[in-house]
Amino acid sequence: MTTLEDFIKGIPKAELHLHIEGTLEPELMFKIARRNNIEIKYRSVEELKKAYDFNNLQDFLDIYYEGTGVLIEEQDYYDMTWAYLEKAHSQNVLHAEIFFDPQAHTDRGIEFQTVVKGIHNALQDGQNKLGISTKLIMCFLRHLDEEAAMKTLEQALNHKDLITAVGLDSSEVGNPPSKFQRVFERAGEEGFLTVAHAGEEGPAEYVWEALDLLKVSRVDHGNHSLDDEKLVQELVSRKMPLTVCPLSNLKLKVVNDLNNHPLRKMLEKGLLITINSDDPAYFGGYVNENYLAISDALDLSKEEIVKLARNSFTASFLIEKTKQQMIEKVDKYSHMQIG
Ligand code: ADE
Ligand code: ZN
Repeated sequence: MTTLEDFIKGIPKAELHLHIEGTLEPELMFKIARRNNIEIKYRSVEELKKAYDFNNLQDFLDIYYEGTGVLIEEQDYYDMTWAYLEKAHSQNVLHAEIFFDPQAHTDRGIEFQTVVKGIHNALQDGQNKLGISTKLIMCFLRHLDEEAAMKTLEQALNHKDLITAVGLDSSEVGNPPSKFQRVFERAGEEGFLTVAHAGEEGPAEYVWEALDLLKVSRVDHGNHSLDDEKLVQELVSRKMPLTVCPLSNLKLKVVNDLNNHPLRKMLEKGLLITINSDDPAYFGGYVNENYLAISDALDLSKEEIVKLARNSFTASFLIEKTKQQMIEKVDKYSHMQIG
């Protein structure tokens, strides 16, 4: 017998929407800044945390990019990634597919290699020491131009073995997926899978573009898909996963209250929904806190929690056999009685 809360904490799960730069906790940010002799414009961790009060995506992105400015050395990328893996492991995350934003670093003069090596070394240690499996997804910053994205893709070609997919993030409205159609075409030719943030603040039309022009295997967020019933039916028939991020949606005012979050409606429509933390250091919770908050707000049942955890593996880029092994772990766990 256990409580639903403990059941949620213990259930085996995957995380599929997680920006590694968004896991940089204020304490670690200050520590890295100190060793790199970088001045942070906030005097203390408390003062910095007070600035984490956002009205929209852009408010957050301004602070998020500022935070990335402390990352200079390979060790910095390692430490940030390792801290996330330990946290994820403690929350029974068996598998994580992790975004990184190379342009947030290379535009400050950091070598692409430094970023990838630091992150990758931590991921290897995550597998060896914690048994957590991972994949890496390289995102293009959509507020920058097509040429910059293409240059970034070319840099990634030297590290093809370490990067599974490419994605699209940053300021959505005014930067539709169509802006990057040629970059994604090239990425596909080079063997990368593709995903894209779409329908977070942008319209359902951007989700259509992500599907039809960028040929994505998953839609990140996708909240605004619900504005277009034809799109919902298309997503359902394609079994297209949406990586939903409840606490992010609340903090960035994509929803005004978790009680009004569309997740239940998404499940009822038959969409393949997963729960994720997006930028946990900024939004007040890692993956378990996201499950707990949305479950509390929408009064999710044990069966719905099991479905979400199963979906997280179904929607992953793991090979079929491993997916099935992990889903079996969820199913075994799900026999536990709630009381
Ligand atoms: N970069 C980091 N988090 C993001 C989000 N939620 N949306 C778009 N770009 C991001
Ligand atoms: Zn995101």
